[in-house]
Amino acid sequence: MTSGAQANEDTVEDKVVEFYDNFTEVFREIWGDNLHVGYWHDAADEAPVEKATDQLTDQLIARLAPRQGQRILDVGCGIGEPAFRLARAAAVDVVGVSISRYQVGRANERAGALDLAGRVSFQYADAAELPFPDASFDGAWAFESLIHMPDKEKVLREIKRVLRPGSTLVLADMFSQPDTELTFQDIITTPEMSDYRAVIEQAGLVVQDITDITANTLAPQSVRDGIAADLLARKDDVIAMTGPEEFERMVDGVRVPKAYGYLLATVTTD
Ligand SMILES: C[S@@+](CC[C@H](N)C(=O)[O-])C[C@H]1O[C@@H](n2cnc3c(N)ncnc32)[C@H](O)[C@@H]1O
Repeated sequence: MTSGAQANEDTVEDKVVEFYDNFTEVFREIWGDNLHVGYWHDAADEAPVEKATDQLTDQLIARLAPRQGQRILDVGCGIGEPAFRLARAAAVDVVGVSISRYQVGRANERAGALDLAGRVSFQYADAAELPFPDASFDGAWAFESLIHMPDKEKVLREIKRVLRPGSTLVLADMFSQPDTELTFQDIITTPEMSDYRAVIEQAGLVVQDITDITANTLAPQSVRDGIAADLLARKDDVIAMTGPEEFERMVDGVRVPKAYGYLLATVTTD
């Protein structure tokens, strides 16, 4: 971890890279291969986190409605799990990008091991400067990654640039709730729900739908207790990534979750 004067000079991107390069494996051991929240269909759904996180991916796949032969961009790809699920659900090619070189390496290794490397690949890129020509993708998602990007309008414009006209972009993102104390404030910036539509429209994109799915992302009590126990069992590793105060906030947030809201948006280029 950097500290003192050096830390003050770090950009959000530097901090995000440091976070994911160092702590992806800790997260993974607690949470599984999807580095995003879970989706529980209703009060009777007691799915464990690994299943619930796949269930959220399925919500995005349904919104993206991929068609055979399409080339899809995954902005902020983690270690590739959502891209693999997408490629198994539809005969599409997926290109994932992450600002964490560690994640890109792990994602490509996993693609090889899963025999998906011919259709799914990952490369290093900052979403604000995508290394792709104009109109080179048929669809995209930014799956819980815009939270880490302070200039969302710039990133959304950049995603629009690489999409062909008529493409769909699906967003899964947290939004901030009024009067709540947020965790991970140095690497997360996100508007309130009421401001979110304007951010997308300012980038020249067309909102087809924005749905608040916060209620579906709140794990049932039995699952929350299990996550809190896992966090406490890995306390030293987690505190190394969060610091002690953030750790307490995290555990409290798992027990009584309310700090962030969560939305899904379906957006088109025109
Ligand atoms: C919460 S994780 C989600 C990962 C993945 N979408 C998933 O659902 O498993 C956020 C991801 O966004 C990526 N990310 C954050 N800022 C980025 C940027 N400026 N450019 C590209 N990727 C970025 C991180 O490296 C990480 O992979």
